[in-house]
Amino acid sequence: MEKGPEFMEKLVSLCKRKGFIFQSSEIYGGLNGFWDYGPYGTALKRAVEQMWWNYMVESRSNVEGLDSTIICNPKIWKASGHLDKFGDMMVDCRECKTRHRSDQMEDVKTCPACGSKNVTEPREFNLMMKTFVGPVFDEDHAAYLRAETCQPIFADFHLVRIAARKKLPFGIAQVGKAFRNEINPRNFTFRSREFSQMEMEFFCTEEESMNWYEYWKAERKKYYIDLLKFGEDELKFQDHGPGELAHYAKAAVDIEFKFPFGWGELEGIHHRGTWDMSRHQEFSGENLEYLDQDNGNRKLIPTVVETSAGLDRSILAILCHAYDEDMADTKKEGMEEDVRAVLRLPARIAPVQAAILPLAKKLMEPAEKLYKDISPFFRSEFDVTGSIGKRYRRQDEIGTPFCVTFDFESLNDNAVTVRHRDSMEQERISMTELSHYLAKQVMAN
Ligand code: GAP
Repeated sequence: MEKGPEFMEKLVSLCKRKGFIFQSSEIYGGLNGFWDYGPYGTALKRAVEQMWWNYMVESRSNVEGLDSTIICNPKIWKASGHLDKFGDMMVDCRECKTRHRSDQMEDVKTCPACGSKNVTEPREFNLMMKTFVGPVFDEDHAAYLRAETCQPIFADFHLVRIAARKKLPFGIAQVGKAFRNEINPRNFTFRSREFSQMEMEFFCTEEESMNWYEYWKAERKKYYIDLLKFGEDELKFQDHGPGELAHYAKAAVDIEFKFPFGWGELEGIHHRGTWDMSRHQEFSGENLEYLDQDNGNRKLIPTVVETSAGLDRSILAILCHAYDEDMADTKKEGMEEDVRAVLRLPARIAPVQAAILPLAKKLMEPAEKLYKDISPFFRSEFDVTGSIGKRYRRQDEIGTPFCVTFDFESLNDNAVTVRHRDSMEQERISMTELSHYLAKQVMAN
């Protein structure tokens, strides 16, 4: 289907109606840049996070996990540069009270919203969210919500290395919340003020760093294509040109996704050099060098290659990719011919992987037993309300890949009908084989 800007209205409405994503504190009018995930959204988000974690940490022996605090010693943010320079230059319009990033204005002396010339000079706004630790609200007790999940990884590098008995090269990964006082939250969850990041910092020697950079670039591409099933034409690898690179970086690339509102960054893969570790060494006064026993006991500051993905942006991209409407032959499922809304989600991350549907109320008891057998292994739902056609439609809209119908024949042949979401084809499967069958299907789809 055509996925232009009006597509977003449909998607936002489906997300609210079906309990994927809606405004935070909506009964109070919401809060700009903050979003809640409802039951299906939570299941999807946890599944995507788990898939990333499995791919980046659990299935590798050279990446370790970390779960650090959101509030850290504020010196971390001094060292990282966030406190002194992490902001945008902004212009306020005194007439219409709108605020604009000066680098996105055609003319910094004219308001792009109302055309007024009565605007402020560009002023710097810091994006760090501030709080206070302890009962006294003064500067001595000021602290900050982390603006990226990677800084505590650098600060904990040696603790993790020693605990996990690691030598270079190895990585440390973390998934968690990050907070930024974005001036202009927009495009649904794309630019939020509270969001989750999935970051991995890979520590290596300077000599090996470009090989690792290329390696992670290829690995991350595989993840988006093989696991999330994005099309090559939906992704763009945008290399930073020499003028755009940070002074310490050798290379950087943004992985962009073709959203209905335009190309937008999903992830950054950055060669960060020794910048972060050197800064933390300087600001903490601790020796953060690594003793390279494999190379004549030389001492070095590790070089870092980072993969930094947004979890909420991934979810948004997944939903944009998955939402579809077709004119499937719904008559054969007892429905009026109509447009069918369907989320074509990969089975591994679908919020419901198998829906157990008894054909009639009389079959509830044995069907519920089947549901209880299946639900410890697959995200499952038991649904008895409405005609079978309506139930299929409901499951299509939330992306359930397999509907398992328990009918009168099931009592005799101990088998059920599995209906596939995308092809709408049906297969008769023995109940004793069902778990095995679904496991194979989930891995393949
Ligand atoms: N540690 C590097 C870092 O934080 P970044 O490009 O600022 O780099 C990495 O952020 C990723 O985090 C982005 O590619 C995006 O997916 C996500 N992200 C950043 N700001 C965001 C926001 N305001 N809302 C949602 N996701 C955001």
